[in-house]
Amino acid sequence: MRFEYAPAPESRDVVDIKPSYGLFVNGEFTEGGGTPFKSVNPADETVLAEIACADEADVDRAVQAARKAFETWSALPGSERAKYLFRIARIVQERARELAVLESLDNGKPIRESRDVDLPLVAAHFFYYAGWADKLKHAGFGPDPRPLGVAGQIIPWNFPLLMLAWKIAPALACGNTVVLKPAETTPLTALAFAEICVQAGLPAGVVNIVTGAGATGAAVAGHADVNKVAFTGSTEVGRLIARSVAGTGKKLTLELGGKAANIVFEDAAIDQAVEGIVTGIFFNQGHVCCAGSRLLVQESIQEELLGALKRRLATLRLGDPLDKNTDIGAINSAEQLARIRTLADAGEQEGADRWSPSCPLPDKGFWFPPTLFTGVAQSHRIAREEIFGPVLSVLTFRTPAEAVEKANNTPYGLSAGVWTEKGSRILWLADKLRAGVVWANTFNRFDPASPFGGYKESGYGREGGRHGLEAYLDV
Ligand code: NAI
Ligand code: MG
Repeated sequence: MRFEYAPAPESRDVVDIKPSYGLFVNGEFTEGGGTPFKSVNPADETVLAEIACADEADVDRAVQAARKAFETWSALPGSERAKYLFRIARIVQERARELAVLESLDNGKPIRESRDVDLPLVAAHFFYYAGWADKLKHAGFGPDPRPLGVAGQIIPWNFPLLMLAWKIAPALACGNTVVLKPAETTPLTALAFAEICVQAGLPAGVVNIVTGAGATGAAVAGHADVNKVAFTGSTEVGRLIARSVAGTGKKLTLELGGKAANIVFEDAAIDQAVEGIVTGIFFNQGHVCCAGSRLLVQESIQEELLGALKRRLATLRLGDPLDKNTDIGAINSAEQLARIRTLADAGEQEGADRWSPSCPLPDKGFWFPPTLFTGVAQSHRIAREEIFGPVLSVLTFRTPAEAVEKANNTPYGLSAGVWTEKGSRILWLADKLRAGVVWANTFNRFDPASPFGGYKESGYGREGGRHGLEAYLDV
């Protein structure tokens, strides 16, 4: 049964959103040469703030500031750089409630997630890499590993502040300086982070934030004086960036999309697997590169599992992201909603069966109900293309070998999940699955000590852990 909950909204008053924001270059907020744009709250389509747009000249100023700051920043002892990173981590913790509300307003994700997942992981990431800053000699990259220089970093809108942390923390720990471009639909927490850099007394130019859309991103990646490019986003843009960087000597890491298999064997604990499937695809409205978007279920338990899953989906609460009871928030933008609709419609047209629980959608804002497709064939678009929304495609298998074959039958290779009681089977599968992360009897679990990254069209390079240092060192 479904209990009716009274609304439990988190207060908006903990954040103070300014009517407009500038770029953060050389420790100061400045105007941009491009046409300003607006960031909206996807839950009700209200404008949150007007944001400056960086043109090529602004990006050049930011890169020059980062170049100048690199001289002193890279010469600091690691233990000194660590102090700044620890300070940033502590300020993030102190301001966590405010940042969580700001993230939910700008992105549409439930406050429960921004408060309990995103923000704790952001702080943890800075703490973790602060710990590495004075131990780089012992990281396995030679006796005196050197930083690369200026890092140009471009991040997406699905985990705005967390992706910023993944990019900035290791870069600074290794002695690099950065020019970071947040996504155009979610720039607000990056701009709050700029304030945190000031609050932490970080030397001017070590972190620069340039806001704007694709053209600004292209200017960052294409700037001749950038030594390293780090990108997270679509495979399409990843390809463009790889092409622009090829032959320049810039170091590149790409973290692109995914179409992960979440594989449930007949001996799995069903209720636990159901929770893992829900976390796998409905967490963050499915706007997750490593989402478990393909459920591979062993044929013998298909009926039982799908019955339990449908009952569980009927209890999910969709609505106001700031309500602490909300499980599914808003889709980040009208464009993303259109993309999800197109692919879900293609699923129906190609002959799969579509199911959603009864789920009234709010009148304003961008929303999509939790959706399940059964009768999916491997050739269907919904089994091959990244939907990046709350849409699960269900396929079946009979033998472990068939499960491996189907799981690997994708151009991507970012993550996978395995649900079984047998430890030996988990190890066998972890070895066979062509995915950067394989979760066993859990899904979407993150820790800053654990490396993350893909195979094939999911990109290259690793973020997180000791491995994540390599991307920012001259090795
Ligand atoms: P996108 O790849 O266009 O956006 C990601 C970032 O790249 C943004 O900051 C954007 O401004 C920037 N960008 C866009 N064009 C650029 C260019 N030519 N040069 C440099 N930077 C550029 O992704 P979009 O359009 O928002 O989403 C499209 C699809 O991509 C989604 O439906 C999803 O499938 C996938 N995606 C995957 C993500 C992941 O975490 N792997 C994150 C976001 C999207
Ligand atoms: Mg927004």
